[in-house]
Amino acid sequence: MLTGPGCPVDESFDPLSPEFLADPYAVMALLPARGAPVFFAPSIGYYVVTSYDAVDAVFRDPATYSAAVAQAPLAPITPEAQQILLAGGHKPQPSMVSLDEPEHARLRKPAARAFSMKRVTAMIPAIEATTARLLDAVRGQDEFDLIATLAYPLPANIVFSLMGVPEQDYAQLKQWCGYRAALGWGRPAPELQVEIATSMAAYRRYLRDLVTAKTRAPGDDLASDLIAIHREAPERLTLDEIASILFSLSFAGHETTTGLIGNTARRLLEDPGRWAEIAADPDLIPAAVEESLRYDPSVPAWRRVTTRPVTLAGVDLPAGARLFLWLAAAGRDEAVFGQPDEFDLHRTDAERHLAFGKGLHYCLGANLGKLEAQIAVTELARRHPALSLVPDQQFTFHPNISFRGPQVLLVRTRP
Ligand code: HEM
Repeated sequence: MLTGPGCPVDESFDPLSPEFLADPYAVMALLPARGAPVFFAPSIGYYVVTSYDAVDAVFRDPATYSAAVAQAPLAPITPEAQQILLAGGHKPQPSMVSLDEPEHARLRKPAARAFSMKRVTAMIPAIEATTARLLDAVRGQDEFDLIATLAYPLPANIVFSLMGVPEQDYAQLKQWCGYRAALGWGRPAPELQVEIATSMAAYRRYLRDLVTAKTRAPGDDLASDLIAIHREAPERLTLDEIASILFSLSFAGHETTTGLIGNTARRLLEDPGRWAEIAADPDLIPAAVEESLRYDPSVPAWRRVTTRPVTLAGVDLPAGARLFLWLAAAGRDEAVFGQPDEFDLHRTDAERHLAFGKGLHYCLGANLGKLEAQIAVTELARRHPALSLVPDQQFTFHPNISFRGPQVLLVRTRP
């Protein structure tokens, strides 16, 4: 893509490079274009938007900045993988997060109605019980991996139970869900593309069957709530659309929250004083989760595409310009947050972060995700007030641009 005059270009910026994946904040600090609210990155063919105000302006103007590329494959998908996806009903325009109005509202309205605060609040006992059960499994162990033990299975179990998936199917679903982020947000090799596409197609089919089953035997779950809405006016919400909403929720509600729990725990534990502080005063935990979303968000980047020529932060963008909204950089914008590179449990304005987006597409599961992270950290700190990181571990991250959290987080329960 050609960039107009006045737009800095950073040839070296590659959000899938090993250095970036290991520590994007080190790359951020050294960017030649630091201070440039918008620059072009040829490695991905996207304009990178870094300043809080510019990211905010994009989210607030959905007519100019379309969500159509939100899930678009970053690297081309092979014809074989594409065929598998299409045959499985995985349409190129798959779900609410990448639809513009009015199609977006058609899915968002019933989903928001079914995903009510009442339903989220009703999940609290299940989140607490699942957290306790998962932590019981490592009771007495001196060391364990917090991701495999808690941060991965907790949100998976919660989102599946919210949807109304029978418990005996969780393991299969988790297997289908593994690594799917690579397809839209990474550069997977052709063989991996086929593997992921096959799992996603199977998952799509499973969800359509689940919806059919719930029409016959409704339960107290979100799928059944959506079916009730469908029955009020079948043409306004079809059964296929219900399956699509469930796909969105289960995709959006899983690794995002795993990352949030992992990042929050990592940031609290990397300074032993911080962990001691929240263990002594659990009322600080909601603020800790909020600060983690600002300082090290589990969705560090999201995408938009321009529908017309527009000037953003002084840079002229053509129609069709693809934007990499660097939410993690917006959280470190010193024009908005004092001492942005410091993790501060007592910051009063952390919740201004843009980690859940803003406007029409604002994350539907923000409350649920935060609640899960708060409950997970609270129970962890209650059981293990002297928890620490196993020293000298190298954190690794899944190679994709939008879902970030340590893949393994080894913790020690005794000093
Ligand atoms: C806890 C960590 C989470 C983070 C950081 C996160 C982040 C995001 C972001 C950045 C967006 C895009 C917003 C935009 O385009 O303006 C989004 C959308 C969405 N999220 Fe989340 N999310 C999280 C958890 C969840 C959970 C637990 C669920 C549901 C169970 C969920 C469901 C959704 C849905 C359905 C959308 C699409 C909304 C729409 O297009 O109208 N998210 N989320």
